[in-house]
Amino acid sequence: MNSKNGEYMVEVEDLHKGFDGNQVLDGVTCQIPAGKISVVMGPSGTGKSVLLRHVVGLLYPDKGDVRVAGKSVPHLNEEELLELRRNVGMLFQDGALFSSMNLYDNVAFPLRQHTKKSEREIKEIVMQRLEEVGLREAVTKMPNELSGGMRKRAGFARALVLEPELLLFDEPDSGLDPVRTSHDIKSCFNIGDHIILLHGGKVVDQGSKEELQRSTKPFTQQFIKGAVEGPLGME
Ligand SMILES: Nc1ncnc2c1ncn2[C@@H]1O[C@H](COP(=O)(O)OP(=O)(O)O)[C@@H](O)[C@H]1O
Ligand SMILES: [Mg+2]
Repeated sequence: MNSKNGEYMVEVEDLHKGFDGNQVLDGVTCQIPAGKISVVMGPSGTGKSVLLRHVVGLLYPDKGDVRVAGKSVPHLNEEELLELRRNVGMLFQDGALFSSMNLYDNVAFPLRQHTKKSEREIKEIVMQRLEEVGLREAVTKMPNELSGGMRKRAGFARALVLEPELLLFDEPDSGLDPVRTSHDIKSCFNIGDHIILLHGGKVVDQGSKEELQRSTKPFTQQFIKGAVEGPLGME
């Protein structure tokens, strides 16, 4: 999977999505560059998760388009959709492990499902990935025996075994605790090469850290500062 022109892995164009009269995405246009860390930020309930779900074809647009590596996701057939999901990993907050399988089988699952690798090859990959996330010793444990942080790392190891071109992390919101919120905003802002700021169903700003810091938009400035009160409010 290569991005069409090598520049953008994901292109979102005038994306509209509503649920029962609640217009969540109201014309979202943004691009995710290839080979970089992009972060979608915005207050709780702005549609960040809804946006990510469109990228892997778990939701369909009411209007507009989402292209991954130049291909329109809503127009993919069943087979192409499976191919897309092999190349795009999606990580949910709790790791989304299968509760009936131990850690080893959870991480081996995508390899058994999507490749013709032998059990010996699978073992090598699984153990290497578990080693990288510091879970080698926990290999026979069941998900309910792991802490939240361990489950998340396990989900990360599992998402990496197929060597995806694109990995999406859907992080939970930190809620209303202003200190935690402020801390999370700063961390996200610091790890992102490319930042997309979502508010009111639209992209209010996108660009590099430096570009956003220079932005004159009040919402951008307020969001970066992690202020809880301001001209637009955080809710
Ligand atoms: N499947 C769904 N059905 C109905 N409403 C939904 C669904 N998914 C999300 N929503 C609504 O869309 C809005 C945005 O949700 P979400 O994308 O989870 O926000 P965020 O991830 O930015 O916190 C919320 O009001 C939520 O209730
Ligand atoms: Mg969310």
